[in-house]
Amino acid sequence: MSRRRPTATQVRHLPTRVRTWPPLGLPAHRASSATLSSAYPFLVPPSTGVGVPIGVDALAGGAFGFDPWGLYNEGELTNPNVVLVGVVGAGKSALAKCLAYRSIAAGRRVYVPGDPKGEWSTLAREVGGIVVRLGPGLPARLNPLDAPATADAHGDRLRRVGAITATALGRDLRPAERSALDAALALVERDDQIPTLPLLVEALTAPDEDEARRDGLTRDQRTLDGTDLAHGLRRLVRGDLAGLFDGPTTDPLDPDAPLVVLDLSALGAEDDALAIAMTCASGWLEAALRPGNAGTTAKRWVIYDEAWRLMRQPAVIRRLQAQWKLARALGVANLLVLHRLSDLDAVGPEGSEARALAAGLLADCSTRIVYRQESDQLSATAAALGLTRPERDLLPALPRGTGLWKLPRRSHVVHHLVHPLETFVDTDHAMREEAP
Ligand SMILES: Nc1ncnc2c1ncn2[C@@H]1O[C@H](COP(=O)(O)OP(=O)(O)O)[C@@H](O)[C@H]1O
Ligand SMILES: [Mg+2]
Repeated sequence: MSRRRPTATQVRHLPTRVRTWPPLGLPAHRASSATLSSAYPFLVPPSTGVGVPIGVDALAGGAFGFDPWGLYNEGELTNPNVVLVGVVGAGKSALAKCLAYRSIAAGRRVYVPGDPKGEWSTLAREVGGIVVRLGPGLPARLNPLDAPATADAHGDRLRRVGAITATALGRDLRPAERSALDAALALVERDDQIPTLPLLVEALTAPDEDEARRDGLTRDQRTLDGTDLAHGLRRLVRGDLAGLFDGPTTDPLDPDAPLVVLDLSALGAEDDALAIAMTCASGWLEAALRPGNAGTTAKRWVIYDEAWRLMRQPAVIRRLQAQWKLARALGVANLLVLHRLSDLDAVGPEGSEARALAAGLLADCSTRIVYRQESDQLSATAAALGLTRPERDLLPALPRGTGLWKLPRRSHVVHHLVHPLETFVDTDHAMREEAP
C-alpha cells in the first residue's frame, strides 16, 4: 500500500523550504493501471484484439477494436447496446458506417430501420445490401399490419397500429378508442388475407353490430369511439402519407442480406411522418429478427442514425423499448445516434412515463461513445452518462472523428481511422469545391 499524497491545504501550510514533496522522501505512488483508472480513467490498457478495428487509442497508443458481443462474453459489458452522441459533423455517422462495414466483413448483419437523410445507400451498394426507399410516388410499401408468425399476431398488430394512431393524432388513445381499434382489427382479421390500413379504416367507420353489443355499446357509440382513429389513420390512406403504408408489403426484409436500409429521405423534414414510418417498419424489422426466420445465427446490429428525430414521440419510444427487449433475447446490438442527451427531453415533461422510458433506453446502453459536445451540454451529458470530471472536461476539445468511449469499467479516447477506400463515410462533398 502506498502513502497518501498531502492535500493542497496541507501543502499550503508547509514551510516554504519543504513545500515540494519529493525532497521529503515520500515514495512515489504506484498502483496498477486498474486501480489508477478509478482516479484517472484513461489509464487503462487498450483493448486490442477484440472485435473489429476502429482506430487508435489516442492516449495509450495502439489499436482499438470493438465488438459488443465479445466484450459482453468477457464480462466487460452488461448489454451489447451502444449510444453515440456528438454535435453535427463530429463524425458519428462515419463511425456508425465504418462499424457496420467492418462488422459485415466479420460476418455480422446490419439493419438501418430508418435513414432520414438517405446517406446509407452508398454503403449498401458497396456491400451488396438492400435499400428500400419509402416516399410519395415511390413504388415501395410497408404494411404495418404484417405480423410475424407468432401466437399473438393480433396483439402485435394492435400495439403497432395503436402506436401509429397515437403518433398520427399526437396524443394517447382513450380506453374506449382502444376497444374500438381492437374490435375493428378483429373484424378485418376475420378474412384470410393479411389486413391492410384501408380495410381497418373502413371497419372503424362501419363497426360490427354484434361485436359492439358484446362490449355493451350500440353500433353508433362504437362508430363515435372510432371517429378520431379513422381520421388519424386516413392520413396514411388518403392524406400526405398515402401510398406508403396502405397496401401489402412490397419488399419483405431479407434476413440474409448483409445490410438492409430503410431510406426515409423522401419523406421530407416532418418528424411525425418519420415516426409513423419507423413504427410501421418495426413490424418489418421484428419479422426478420425472429429466430428461425433468418436461417442464420449471425449477430446483428440495428442502427438508428439520427435517432433524435425519431425519439420525440412517446409512442415511438414505447415501440423502441419493446423492440430492445426482443433484441436482448435475440442477441441484437442496438446503436442509437443522438446529437445531445437533452434531445431525449423532448419526448415529454419531466416525470412523464415517456421520459422514464427514454432514460431506460439510455441506461440500457452499456457502451457510451461521446463525441464533441457544446459547452452548455457538458453537465447534462456527464450526469446522464456517469462521466468523471477529466472525462467531461475533455469533451469540448475533441476533434472530428475522436471520441470518448465509456465502458462500465474502462474508458478510452479513440480516434476513428477511416481508410481512403471507405468513401461511403463522406457526407461533406456538397460543401467542398471539387478540383476541376
Ligand atoms: N474519423 C474521420 N476521419 C476523417 N474524416 C471523417 C472522420 N469522421 C468523419 N469524417 C468526415 O466528416 C464529415 C462529417 O461526418 P459525419 O459522420 O457525417 O458527421 P455526423 O454524423 O456526426 O454529423 C464526413 O464527410 C466524414 O467523411
Ligand atoms: Mg450523421
